[in-house]
Amino acid sequence: MSHFSIQLVALLSLTLLLPNTHGWGDDGHVIVCKIAQARLSKTAAEAVQKLLPKSAGNDLSTKCSWADHVHHIYPWSSALHYANTPDAVCSYKNSRDCIDYKKGIKGRCVVAAINNYTTQLLQYGSETKSKYNLTQSLFFLSHFVGDIHQPLHCGFLSDSGGNTIKVKWYTRKQTLHHVWDQIILQTEVDKFYDSDMGEFVDAIQQNITKVWANEVEEWEQCGDNDLPCPAQYASESTIDACKWAYKDATEGSVLSDDYFLSRSQIVNLRLAQAGVRLAAILNRVFDRKLSSSM
Ligand code: ADE
Ligand code: ZN
Ligand code: ZN
Repeated sequence: MSHFSIQLVALLSLTLLLPNTHGWGDDGHVIVCKIAQARLSKTAAEAVQKLLPKSAGNDLSTKCSWADHVHHIYPWSSALHYANTPDAVCSYKNSRDCIDYKKGIKGRCVVAAINNYTTQLLQYGSETKSKYNLTQSLFFLSHFVGDIHQPLHCGFLSDSGGNTIKVKWYTRKQTLHHVWDQIILQTEVDKFYDSDMGEFVDAIQQNITKVWANEVEEWEQCGDNDLPCPAQYASESTIDACKWAYKDATEGSVLSDDYFLSRSQIVNLRLAQAGVRLAAILNRVFDRKLSSSM
């Protein structure tokens, strides 16, 4: 091997081993936002179009990883990508678990972030100019609704949601967290969809209208006065983290067909739920004038 290619391989493997602190990989976020945008009401679709910058070409999915690129300019935002339960605790409790552990600030986590950015977006179209940058509120909200559906973004604190658990994905070294952020999805798209992400999105959309049709309304539902219900989404993720992500995957485990085939179903379901719910939240936010005036 040439000196150059050794360096390249070293760099590539470093990139792969670095803990991914930032949620589904780009692909996951693109999928969530494509599913969501296709389900927007006319009013919500228009609002989203107005909030998107020209560079997005009215495609929300081009901005759904934006939140992963602003950790340096907005250091406070890093804690907003996840929430953690105590070690081996398989149920999410908002008053206990929504906290920025590094800073010790209560009420800072992905659950609070979703509530916060939804509330900000309610100012859209009001007479007074919002003190918030609502374009950024939309980008943050769209990203965090994706993140909260990744089971290990609501995993255990002691292993940073699987970031410190080293496993083998077939023969390759990975962290368990990265397997759930990206690798299961990538393997699935490569293996079953000819590496064509568009085909995969189509298939998920088909499943939403056919296989999961009877459940979709339930996914969309929150309590009477809640626009989003992120503590509910987090609770589901924590349960899935225990039941599927951590199960049979401890330090040094070799994950192969059994793990891949069963877990990819969960990844697909969580991506679908995230997309459906993001659309439902945006529809409720931007259609609220109609329903509140009745
Ligand atoms: N990314 C970085 N830290 C994390 C944590 N504690 N839980 C989940 N994802 C994370
Ligand atoms: Zn993230
Ligand atoms: Zn992640």
